[in-house]
Amino acid sequence: MPETPEATPDLPPRELEAESGENSPLPHRKPLEELRSRRWFGPADLRSFGHRSRAMQMGYAPEEWTGKPVIGIINTWSDLNPCHVHFKQRVDDVKRGILMAGGFPVELPAISVSESYVKPTTMMYRNFLAMETEELLRSHPIDGAVLMGGCDKTTPGLLLGATSMNIPAIFLPAGPMLRGNWQGKTLGSGSDSWKYWDELRAGKITDQDWLGVEGGIARSYGTCMTMGTASTMTAIAESVGMVLPGGSSILAADAGHIRLASESGRRIVEMVWEDLTPQKIQTREAFENAIAVAMAMGCSTNAIIHLIAMARRAGQDIGLDDFERYSRKVPVIGNVRPSGNAYLMEDFFYAGGIRALMNEIREFLHLGCLTVSGRTLGENIEGAKVYNDDVIRPLSNPIYGEGSLAVLKGNLAPSGCVIKPAAMDQKFLKHSGPAFVFDDYPSMKKAVEDENYPFTPDSVLVLRNAGPQGGPGMPEWGMLPMPKKLLKMGLRDMLRLSDARMSGTSYGACILHVAPESFVGGPLALLKTGDIISIDVDARTIHMEVTDEELERRRAEWKQPEKRFERGYGWMFSQHIQQADQGCDFDFLRTDFGAPVSEPVIF
Ligand code: FES
Repeated sequence: MPETPEATPDLPPRELEAESGENSPLPHRKPLEELRSRRWFGPADLRSFGHRSRAMQMGYAPEEWTGKPVIGIINTWSDLNPCHVHFKQRVDDVKRGILMAGGFPVELPAISVSESYVKPTTMMYRNFLAMETEELLRSHPIDGAVLMGGCDKTTPGLLLGATSMNIPAIFLPAGPMLRGNWQGKTLGSGSDSWKYWDELRAGKITDQDWLGVEGGIARSYGTCMTMGTASTMTAIAESVGMVLPGGSSILAADAGHIRLASESGRRIVEMVWEDLTPQKIQTREAFENAIAVAMAMGCSTNAIIHLIAMARRAGQDIGLDDFERYSRKVPVIGNVRPSGNAYLMEDFFYAGGIRALMNEIREFLHLGCLTVSGRTLGENIEGAKVYNDDVIRPLSNPIYGEGSLAVLKGNLAPSGCVIKPAAMDQKFLKHSGPAFVFDDYPSMKKAVEDENYPFTPDSVLVLRNAGPQGGPGMPEWGMLPMPKKLLKMGLRDMLRLSDARMSGTSYGACILHVAPESFVGGPLALLKTGDIISIDVDARTIHMEVTDEELERRRAEWKQPEKRFERGYGWMFSQHIQQADQGCDFDFLRTDFGAPVSEPVIF
């Protein structure tokens, strides 16, 4: 297509008038001329001729797009993301809603970041999806976006990108899968994999049993149905205002999910005319709501990293101290594994879902925050009822008295680390023990399988070089495997520590996200086997009992491990990834990094 360097006039006024939709039932609060897509399709010039003729090449008549907002549907479907298998059909439901409301839908596929298959870890690719989302929206004639995600990193990835782009956007969660089932027993994603794996290693179940668990633990499309990272992040997406009311709890296989898809399509068209953008919705108060909900849900530890990154993209300075503040006052009332002991997301949905949970903790929420529904959070949750008060407990009967996460600080983690007190053996809340330190996963794995290795119940198992740069990508290795010797003694928990993350479906006395990470020379790099580590969760402290002089001596001897990447995306990741307490965003994607990106110029 030839370039036309001169600026050319817009369409004649008569045609504009015809398009302005005076007879349309839609509230055209944004003038038609202000639609971004108008710059591609509107002008009477050679370039726009190309855009229009190419739309016609795809079989669209001008009536199908003229005067209508173009809605981009960012779809993270792929054949290797089992949690998003239904997105191939659901995208048609979104399109149906967009068409009903007078929009023009276009599907834009994006990397699917499947938690099940992507190596070395999906965390390497959260920011990749964020950049892809932002640039897909920026570079195309898009006025508003429906973001289709749910499998762990896809939710923050899509929201980070859409927030930076800041055109109207609505998030459509994939929805949790059905409960797992094996021999009549309910199985929960992740949690029961770890549980029955330990039972197999301890000789309590057979190989045949293990195969049964493998076939029964994931019975339908949809995201993990424990309170893992997926359910945590979709709840956060809703509580921060980016999902239609109740949408994050609807099961993927429920017909209500199809209706949610269509409704999201209808609503985004209105949001374009209202110019309701992510940064108008995602205020500091909205992020505080998300933290409160995360705490009450018994959220995944990953919530901290993603929420900090999301808030900073929206220009809100949320940090570990905000989590600590809410952790002290908001109890865990969502009785969903792994914090709770019995229920799964299917039960949570039937018990009233997130609207009911938010209504229960409304005293901790800023109810005036605006949401994608066009109404306030308070209006969205008004009258929401709990139908099973063992699944969604009243504040007077929580499953854990304080929030599910705690931030510890001390000479081993000056920039903080995280533990999940609600999902661990409570005897480790205050503990001192000797460290067994491993520099890489294979050597640690070998040691825990060795029944002669001198682990004791008091030992602290430590893995380092597993952080944002060291992992690389901060893999979910943080629920370090229990030593076989201790399992055979009947133990199922011990204090474990790393600069890695942990799956939200995991449990145990695992200290995570130690910052700064060891790979860049954080104090964890100086720890030696035999050093005593002390933690006091109530006092929020973590300490290695090594003198400052000795630490200085060790620092002088420390050498940084070899670089993980020499080229490509991995190299860029290593150059720009920030530490866990900063949300692991790329430094150059921060809101305050340089001048804002301008809109594309169309010649
Ligand atoms: Fe996709 Fe757990 S693997 S949500």
